[in-house]
Amino acid sequence: MEAGALSDLDFDTALAMLAWQVELGADEALAETPINRYEAHAEAEASAPPAQSGPALPMPGPGAVPHPMPLRVAGPDPVAVAEDAARAAPDLEALHAAIAGFALCELKRGAKTTVFADGNPAARVMILGEAPGRDEDIQGKPFVGRAGQLLDRMLAAIGLSRSNPDPGGAVYIANILPWRPPQNRDPEAAEIAMMMPFVRRHLELAAPDILVLMGNTPCAAVLGRRGITRMRGQWAEALGLPVLPTFHPAYLLRNPHAKREAWADLLDLRARLKGLP
Ligand code: URA
Repeated sequence: MEAGALSDLDFDTALAMLAWQVELGADEALAETPINRYEAHAEAEASAPPAQSGPALPMPGPGAVPHPMPLRVAGPDPVAVAEDAARAAPDLEALHAAIAGFALCELKRGAKTTVFADGNPAARVMILGEAPGRDEDIQGKPFVGRAGQLLDRMLAAIGLSRSNPDPGGAVYIANILPWRPPQNRDPEAAEIAMMMPFVRRHLELAAPDILVLMGNTPCAAVLGRRGITRMRGQWAEALGLPVLPTFHPAYLLRNPHAKREAWADLLDLRARLKGLP
């Protein structure tokens, strides 16, 4: 669009266009004025020295094996950095600060907030979801959008809530990833791997008696397996805790018929909780 046409826009249209670009992921201005990269490229080509006629670079011959790994830009190992930072956090507040200060996950750059946790940290039940969505990114708390509201209603049906001061009637909620992936895309394995040291430390510090995993991403991260339809309702053990995989509430919003099974899981959770010493 030409500069003249841009300046003719009314405020609301300009704001809507800007919001649309931010939604697409273009949320950072890198220069005061826009740069026309096509023109810059053409100018660079015109002023480039003529091609050298020296020896050509060797081409891979027949039978050459392509490099098996994508080349990684040299730098610190994000998992090792995360391990050190997580281990050094003596309490939840310090862990929150350590996560917020971890700069090696690209997701952080696109997120508005670091979504750490919500609920009662002393709760006997801890719930792990996948990653913040749009509402969570705005409010800085996990599970506050439509899926989160359904989750609250499900928990209330078995007498649990985030705000209950009694650890036996409370839940503590966090996600595998503390930053919203762009356009809510699935988290990448490398992103999960580098945030897992923080998740493990989070579990150590909160020390729940039961862990509930909502959906495939936390199951893959904690249990190393996917396939929530088969896994749901089957108690497992991980990180020294009894673990209950169940459907993600966003899945239940899209597939209301699965609420029956989710309800069975909730009843099972309540029974297990009641049976704790
Ligand atoms: N989905 C999640 O997995 N976590 C949230 O916090 C919100 C939606």
